[in-house]
Amino acid sequence: MTPLPKFSVIKTDFDALLECTGQIVILVSDDQKLDAVSSWINKVTKGALERFLCSEEFKNLLLGNTLSLAYPTDLYVKSVMIAKINSNATIAQARSCGVKITKTLTCEKILLVGGKFERIADLVEGIAMRNYEYLDQKTNTNPKPLDVRVMVDNLAGQAAEIDTKMAMVDGVFFTRDLINAPANVLTTTAFASELSALSELGITVEVFDESTLEKLGMRTLLCVGQGSDSPSKVVVMQWNGGGDEAPFALVGKGVVFDTGGISLKPAGGMEDMTMDMGGAGVVAGAMKALALRKAKANVVGVVGLVENMPSGNAVRPGDVIKSMKGDTVEVINTDAEGRLVLADILWYTQERFAPTGMINLATLTGAIIVGLGHEMAGVFSNNDRLCKQFIDAATAEGEGAWRMPLAPAYDKLLKSRIADVKNVGSRAAGSITAGQFLQRFVKEDMPWAHLDIAGVASIASESEFSPKGATGWGVRALNRMIADHYEMKEEAASG
Ligand code: BES
Ligand code: ZN
Ligand code: ZN
Repeated sequence: MTPLPKFSVIKTDFDALLECTGQIVILVSDDQKLDAVSSWINKVTKGALERFLCSEEFKNLLLGNTLSLAYPTDLYVKSVMIAKINSNATIAQARSCGVKITKTLTCEKILLVGGKFERIADLVEGIAMRNYEYLDQKTNTNPKPLDVRVMVDNLAGQAAEIDTKMAMVDGVFFTRDLINAPANVLTTTAFASELSALSELGITVEVFDESTLEKLGMRTLLCVGQGSDSPSKVVVMQWNGGGDEAPFALVGKGVVFDTGGISLKPAGGMEDMTMDMGGAGVVAGAMKALALRKAKANVVGVVGLVENMPSGNAVRPGDVIKSMKGDTVEVINTDAEGRLVLADILWYTQERFAPTGMINLATLTGAIIVGLGHEMAGVFSNNDRLCKQFIDAATAEGEGAWRMPLAPAYDKLLKSRIADVKNVGSRAAGSITAGQFLQRFVKEDMPWAHLDIAGVASIASESEFSPKGATGWGVRALNRMIADHYEMKEEAASG
């Protein structure tokens, strides 16, 4: 498990500064005005800080960037890092500045001087999000978590805000660890036990085995895993932090490895298919974040965990499988397996929970990468309101999301000669036909969105908030969307 950076919030304290042996980080605006702590540091260092701020180097420093003053006089610290940020910085600027701080830190013991800066929680979020490295499979590493004391004037307010942000970052790290884990480590069984452990946070977790899934009639899900020695599982996670209203549902594709099955994928790049459980990983991380921050909402997470392998038992192209809904599916291509998994769990979720809305996440199609690259996930929805709620939340969190179309006209591409539907269309509109296939398993009046995260779940070059590999995309957007639209307000909760 990747250790979470530690943030403790303390009141502004000059002794702590004097005793600090790691690194002090201060925030200075581009008008070079010094706050109480910076003035004090300037005095202790016999004017070094002010001289530094008058330098060409500082003047040329772009907003949001950092410079360090090494081994300053009369302090024990290795350096004082100066981050240039204005007091009226936006959330996005504060977050980006946090990222820059993480990238330029040279110690793991930090004293961050927040003072009166209002966006300190967003800045901390940026520091934490970028402070991630997946080392679980490397030997001889002893990762020391970053240990940050944040000095603020308004202790109560800022500490609570930082705690909420860290709950979210905890969820993101959980998702990243799951997605980065290789498929021999994160088997369906190991994944289910990781999720079972969420019960410690107050989440009710149920794990369904193959015989139960068989009884439920989840044949399209089961056929995907039938060539694998790892047993297929469905895990249901319930967070009941709201009243007695119906829950909002999050549904995730959890293919722990996608070889393509009998429609085998080419060897080159196949190793990337360890991330094909990304949808389930994001659902897990979002559930964790909601539980950690004790969200006043009812949310259910349902994930289908399977492995898509070729074998003598594997499902064949041409097989016809009956879904839990009752529709028959002709499997033309065993590599279009994610939709087969989702078909059954989408149906199950609606039958059991009658949710107020439902979002599924899946690394579903290579075609979405052709369309949107690695910057944005594709959003397909039957409901303008839900779609806007999600895209607004994603935008606020700096997570790219772009609406794509759904329309009955595409259904003709999925017509099967012998069954109710086939699992693939032609090459044309590959991501949309996948969406249309899923929509078949969504009830008429159910507000629903499908997020195709194939391009954003794991990336080959670093992004602003994450290193190469798993990004955790979606955890923050979902958490915010629940907070903004599906949570009981304070008055309602107490009254
Ligand atoms: N897991 C893949 C989609 C994928 C591709 C995810 C690249 C991440 C990166 C999915 O199961 C798949 O194989 N889809 C096929 C569908 C096709 C057979 C209709 C695809 O996109 O090629
Ligand atoms: Zn596939
Ligand atoms: Zn897949």
